[in-house]
Order: sequence, then structure tokens, then C-alpha cells
Amino acid sequence: MQDYHEYLDKVLISEEVLQKRIKELGSQISQDYNGKQILMICILRGGVMFLSDLIRHVSIPVAIEFMAVSSYGSGARSSSGDVRITLDLNTSISNKEVIIVEDIVDSGHTLASVIELLQTRNPASICVCTLLDKFSRREVQVPIKYCGFKIENEFVFGYGLDMDEYYRNLPFIGTVDLKRYDPTV
Ligand code: IMP
Ligand code: MG
Repeated sequence: MQDYHEYLDKVLISEEVLQKRIKELGSQISQDYNGKQILMICILRGGVMFLSDLIRHVSIPVAIEFMAVSSYGSGARSSSGDVRITLDLNTSISNKEVIIVEDIVDSGHTLASVIELLQTRNPASICVCTLLDKFSRREVQVPIKYCGFKIENEFVFGYGLDMDEYYRNLPFIGTVDLKRYDPTV
């Protein structure tokens, strides 16, 4: 396994910048839903770091739930549009104010499918909070209410996002130099 320093192109978003923006998002959500209680649904596994930092800045009652979706296998770098729910919610979302928390919206296929499914369960409202928006890659429109950062079309990793499942634990977001990445070593 290569050390990430071998293929890290640059630090795109530092830990400090990430944390400052996440604090702002938490405050904004708390203001917007003032007087209500919310349910944040984290899409595993990429959304985990973001969710756990975000909820620390939410000052209204917040419950959390997890869902896992598979869009493409390890090694592939783009979503197929063939999205399967691999872990479903444990609780009803009927009449709840739902916020889906995701690491990145790329083609949009993953979130479009998740929203379509959750809408059938009659939530009071449903919206998306994504840390990153790779807007130029969009193939299906997804309504994004809260967005941390819009980014260019580069493969990124760290802070929940993986390089073939590793390095989700990095506290910053980096870009990958795919020419220097060798998954076989
Ligand atoms: P979409 O269905 O194409 O919008 O893909 C969304 C999913 O693809 C995200 O939840 C990520 O898991 C993954 N993904 C997309 N772009 C990147 C990236 O640059 N780095 C790591 N994972 C990514
Ligand atoms: Mg993912």
C-alpha cells in the first residue's frame, strides 16, 4: 500500500478551513430549523466525519440515522447510475424534518435515488447538506440546500472520502495525482 504522500497532489481544503465552514453550516441549519427538531441521515461511509463534526455545531434537537448506498465498486472513479441501498434506516421518517448529510455530490445519481426513495416515506421535509459539490460532473439534478465547498473536477480524498477505502481519516481534503497512484502495490 502506497503512502498517500506519494500521490497527494495538493491539500485542497485544510483542516482549519474545513472546520470553520462546518461551524457556519451548523449555525445556519440551527437558525433555519429554529423551534423544530431535525433528523440527519448520514450516507455511509463518506459522510461520517462531516456528520460527526457538523452535529457538534447544531444547537437544536438533532437525531442521527445512517444509510449505506453502493454506487460503484472499489477502483472505479465514476458513478454508474446503478445505485443500491445496502443498509436501510432503522426508524420511520414520517413527519420528520430530514437533512441528508453526504460527503460529495458528483454525478448526482446516488442522492437522486436516495431522495426518491425517502420521499415515498412521507417526511415533513427533506433536504441535502453536502460537504463538497463537484458541480461540473452533474448528470442528474439534485437540490442542494447546504453546501460546504464547490470544487473543480478533480478526484479528492481525506475527511471521509476514500482512496479505495483508505485515508478517510485524514483531517483535510487533498487532490490525487492519479498518474502517481498505483493500487497494485
Ligand atoms: P454520485 O452518485 O456520482 O454523485 O457519487 C457520489 C459518491 O461518489 C460519493 O458519495 C462518493 O462516495 C463518491 N465520490 C465521488 N467523487 C469522489 C471523489 O473525488 N473522491 C472520493 N469519492 C468520490
Ligand atoms: Mg462514498
